[in-house]
Amino acid sequence: MTTDPRDHAIAALLSEERSYPPPEDFAAGANAQADLYERSFEELWETEGRERVTWFEPFTELYEWEPPYAKWYLGGRLNVCFNCVDRHVESGNGDKVAYHWEGEPVGEREAITFAGLQERVVRFANGLKKLGVGKGTPVGIYMGMIPELPVAMLACARLGAPHTVVFGGFSADALAGRLNDMGCEVLITQDEGWRKGANVPLKANADEALARCPGVRHAVVARRTGEGPALREGRDVAWDELAGGESADPATCPCEPMDSEDLLYLLYTSGTTAKPKGIAHTTAGYLVGTATTHHYIFDVKPDSIYWCAADIGWVTGHSYIVYGPLCNGTTSVLYEGTPDFPDRDRWWEIVERYRVDVLYTAPTAIRAHMKWGTEHAAKHDLSSLRLLGSVGEPINPEAWMWYRENIGGGRTPVVDTWWQTETGMILISPLPGVTTVKPGSATQPFPGIDAAVVDERGEEVPNGQGGYLVLRKPWPAMLRGLYKEHDRYVDTYWSRFPGLYFTGDGAKRDEDGDFWLMGRVDDVMNVSGHRISTIEVESALVDHPAVAEAAVCGRKDDLTGEAIVAFVTLKGSEEASVEMLDTLREHVAQKIGKIARPANIVFTPELPKTRSGKIMRRLLRDVSEHRTLGDTTTLADPSVVEEIRDRAEDEKAKAV
Ligand code: WT7
Repeated sequence: MTTDPRDHAIAALLSEERSYPPPEDFAAGANAQADLYERSFEELWETEGRERVTWFEPFTELYEWEPPYAKWYLGGRLNVCFNCVDRHVESGNGDKVAYHWEGEPVGEREAITFAGLQERVVRFANGLKKLGVGKGTPVGIYMGMIPELPVAMLACARLGAPHTVVFGGFSADALAGRLNDMGCEVLITQDEGWRKGANVPLKANADEALARCPGVRHAVVARRTGEGPALREGRDVAWDELAGGESADPATCPCEPMDSEDLLYLLYTSGTTAKPKGIAHTTAGYLVGTATTHHYIFDVKPDSIYWCAADIGWVTGHSYIVYGPLCNGTTSVLYEGTPDFPDRDRWWEIVERYRVDVLYTAPTAIRAHMKWGTEHAAKHDLSSLRLLGSVGEPINPEAWMWYRENIGGGRTPVVDTWWQTETGMILISPLPGVTTVKPGSATQPFPGIDAAVVDERGEEVPNGQGGYLVLRKPWPAMLRGLYKEHDRYVDTYWSRFPGLYFTGDGAKRDEDGDFWLMGRVDDVMNVSGHRISTIEVESALVDHPAVAEAAVCGRKDDLTGEAIVAFVTLKGSEEASVEMLDTLREHVAQKIGKIARPANIVFTPELPKTRSGKIMRRLLRDVSEHRTLGDTTTLADPSVVEEIRDRAEDEKAKAV
C-alpha cells in the first residue's frame, strides 16, 4: 500500500510545514479545553451520557463490549425526539430558532422555532399513527432538504419507528432496493424537489420504486412544488391531509420510551460488493456521541448560528444537521439547494444574512468555490464566521489554506473531521481551542477514541510510516452491525485485523503523532465525499444488454476528489460509439443515481486480468491517471493493457 502512487498525501505530508495554534481568545472561551484529553474513556462517556441527554430511566451500565458488537448505556430508557425537541420547549427555549430554512428559489425562507418544530412533529407523528406506524415499524424517507425531512425523521424517532433516509439524488432502483431490504411499510416523500433551478422528480421516482415494493402500504407526499404525479388512491396520502387536522399537543403523542439499544435508523452505504450495506445505529450511544462531538468540535454556543451544508440523506446530515445539533438545542441553517444557484455567491449571501458562525462542508465544495474564484465570497461580510469544518475525504492543503484565508478571513481555526457512516460520529479531529492545526491533517483522535495506524500484521507502525487506520476500542455511536448481515459485518470490518475495527482507510502519523488520512485502500471510490463501490457501478453497466464485461476504477480529479472511469467490453455485435457512451452513462444514473455516472468510459475488446481471472484495477488506475504501468507480469495477456492505454489516450484526445 505504501508504494501505491495514489498516496499523494504522503508527498503533501512531507512538504507540509505550516501550522496554526488556536487564536488566544478562541482558546480561552472554547467548549473543549485541554483537560478533556485527560479524562479517562469511562469518565468521559459516563459524564457525557449522564449530562448531555435526558433519560426517562437512567442507564445502569456504561457499556458492554463483546467484539464485534458493543452496547452502550445499558438499562437506560430515553427518546431521541424528546431530547432533540420537547425538552428544549419544556426548559423555556421554545422560541429559539431550530432551523433557518432557506429554499433554493430566492426569497423562500422560514424560521422554525423549537416550539414550531414540536408542533409539526407531533401533528405528523399523530398522522403516522393513523397509518399504523408505531414502535418498530420500518419507515423509508425519500426527500429533498425541506423542513418536512427532519420533521419526518423526528416523528419516527418519537414513535420509536426506525427510519431509513434515502438520498434524494438516488434513483428509483436504489430506493426500491433499500425499502425492500429494510422491509419498510410506509414511505415519506415529496412531490418534487428543487435543484439548480430544476425540478427533481421525487414522487415520480418513488412511484417507479413502489411498483417493486409490495411491502410498502402507504406513501405520504409532502407538497413542495405543487407539481408531480397524482396521488394514488388507497396508497398515497398528502402530508397536509394526513397531519393537518391532527393535534399539535405533545400530550396527544407522547415520546415512546426506547431502550438505549433500540434501532434508531439504518443508513445504506456502499461497500466492496454491489449490495449496499445497511448500517445500524441505535438510540442512546448515537445520540450521546453525536451531541458530544458536536458540542466540543464545533464549539457551538447558545447563540451560535451553525451551518452544516451537507445533505441530510448522508450520515453527515443525520448526525450534524439533525440529531447532534438539535440535541444540543443549536440554531442551524437548513439550505435546500446548490451553492451556485442562482449565483456563485449564494452560500456567502446566506452566511452574511444569518451571521453564520460555524460552517461545516466538504473538500469537493471548497474546491468548487476555489475554481469559481474568490470574488464571490469577497462580495459578502463573512466576519461572523468563527470556525470552519471539513469532512468526506482528505482535504488538500491548498484547499484547506484557501478555505481558511478566503472564507475564514485568515483567523478561523479549520477542523478537518474524519469519520464514516459506520462510526456515526466524528472520531479524528482537532479540538478547535486546543489543537494546533495543520493544512491536510485531521490531527488527533477525539478524547476517548483509540485510533492507530497498523501494518499488514496488525502491528502499530512508527510515526512517519504509512499503514491501515484501525480503531481499538468501541465508541458510543459505533454501528451495531449490518442489518441482517452478521457475516458480512465480521468480514468487512473485523476479519483483516482480528480484534481491531478496520476502517478501510490508509493513514500515517507525523512526528507529532498527528493523523494524515490517505484515502481508501479497498475497491471503494470517493466521489465528492461519497462512497461508491467499483463493483456497484460495474454491476449497473453489465446490467445493460449491450455490455459483456466492465471494470471500474477511480482516478484523481481536481474537483470531485475521485472521478469514475469505466472500462467496458461490448457484446460482439455492439458498436462502440458516442451514443453508446451516453446510453451507458445514463444507464448507470438510472440504476444508482447521477452521482455514480462514469466521467469517462473507455471501450476495449479485453480487460486486463490475472491468470486466475481477476481484473487488475490497479493497472486501470495507472492507465486512467496516465502513469507508467506498474507490474504487469501477473497478467494473463500483457498486451491487453497496452491496447487499453492507447484507447484511453484516444478517449482523452476526444474529450479535449
Ligand atoms: C469515508 C467515509 C463521514 C461523513 C462523510 C463520508 C473518507 C471522511 C474524511 C476526512 C479523509 C475522509 C474516508 C472514510 N473521509 N472524512 N476528514 N479525511 N478522508 O461518509 O460515505 O461513510 O465515507 O470518507 O475514506 O472512510 P462515508
